[in-house]
Amino acid sequence: MDILVVGGGGREHAVIKALKKSRRAGKIYALPGNGGIAADAECVPVKATDIDGILSFARAKKVDFAVVTPDDPLVLGCVDALESVGVPCFGPNKAAAIIEGSKVFSKELMKKYNIPTAASETFTNAEDAMRYLEGAAFPAVIKADGLALGKGVVIANTLEEGKAAVKEIMCDKVFGASGNSILIEEFLTGPEVSVLSFTDGKIVVPMLSSMDHKRAGDGDTGLNTGGMGTIAPNPYYTEEVARECMEKIFRPTIEAMAREGRPFKGCLYFGLMLTPNGPKVIEYNCRFGDPETQVVLPLLKSDLLEIMLAVRGGVLREDMVRFEDGAACCVVLASAGYPKHYDAGYPITMPTVGPGEEIYVAGAKLRGEELVTAGGRVLGAVATAKTLRRAIERAYELADNIHFENAYKRSDIGSRALAALEE
Ligand code: AMP
Ligand code: GLY
Repeated sequence: MDILVVGGGGREHAVIKALKKSRRAGKIYALPGNGGIAADAECVPVKATDIDGILSFARAKKVDFAVVTPDDPLVLGCVDALESVGVPCFGPNKAAAIIEGSKVFSKELMKKYNIPTAASETFTNAEDAMRYLEGAAFPAVIKADGLALGKGVVIANTLEEGKAAVKEIMCDKVFGASGNSILIEEFLTGPEVSVLSFTDGKIVVPMLSSMDHKRAGDGDTGLNTGGMGTIAPNPYYTEEVARECMEKIFRPTIEAMAREGRPFKGCLYFGLMLTPNGPKVIEYNCRFGDPETQVVLPLLKSDLLEIMLAVRGGVLREDMVRFEDGAACCVVLASAGYPKHYDAGYPITMPTVGPGEEIYVAGAKLRGEELVTAGGRVLGAVATAKTLRRAIERAYELADNIHFENAYKRSDIGSRALAALEE
């Protein structure tokens, strides 16, 4: 089967490497892919949001299957467009992708179906939001309704910070129309867990849990980033918590979407917080997480393509999704300065990877034959091992052997998870 993968980050690199292992995988195209992905797939310079360009390419090459991974093409209806010309897809249609595309939608869904989440109020004008904040408890969490490149959430510690956030999102429109509506919600506390799941709209099969490290600096300090590293499985996500999540969150969400006439097929990402009052949903994403995917897929024993085809066909079964017993760690190497200003264009040197190691490239391009940096997050050094401690050590050993000027990485990926394991 010839497969088209829409996207071009580290997550897509991990998806492509996993698909390549399938017996049924033929040619793999990445639109647009990147300089590192080019070693594993044919990269075609079509942007992930260029739906017409993607359609023309899929038709011209007569691809057999498409995998749409990033949020924006999903929310724009890329899957609907491809399916309408006869290309079967892995990924939710537009009606289902709204679960990430609109935080107001997902909050209403959770309220209607009693799915545990932070209490919140929705506002469509700034004055009402400001007035509400006057009486609110702080910290308060302010969220733009629509997609905002992962930056649409502000934790306001004071009334002033809250008002400033409302002004930026609703009046200055820093996220454009995504800020036409906002949510102001209760601040929750507790360990965060990411759970990716496969669902065919009828049953939901969770993958291994993981833990993201979103802040730029060690000890979870500094600015929020797209993710500086991940580990899997997440030690806070015990069997008991998993059972509770299945019963109160995962199954009810899939049923709720089906009842709303928006059956979700694809990868549904549950961003959870394990609060003193039980697990609650912080956010839904309509896709694989980045960099969660980079630690989850290397531990997948089953054939990813077979799972994706079963999801598309509505015939997913639990026994189709099997994981190794071990653990994985991904250390992101970024360009110094990220998530603010950074320089790019520096040559990257990488070692050959050994068994249980992967390098997933996110922000790099080819200059002639040479791979050079081209983004904030440049790549992820990933290792799997029997134990989490060993996976972390090996991921850092691998990361230390990758070189480019201005490289920056956190030095404590996984240390909180290790501490929790050893408590
Ligand atoms: P994202 O939606 O991925 O940009 O995530 C924003 C981050 O904000 C989450 O990972 C949480 O750490 C935090 N967050 C979001 N909602 C809440 C909440 N209600 N209480 C506490 N922290 C939150
Ligand atoms: N790592 C969080 C996300 O993919 O949104």
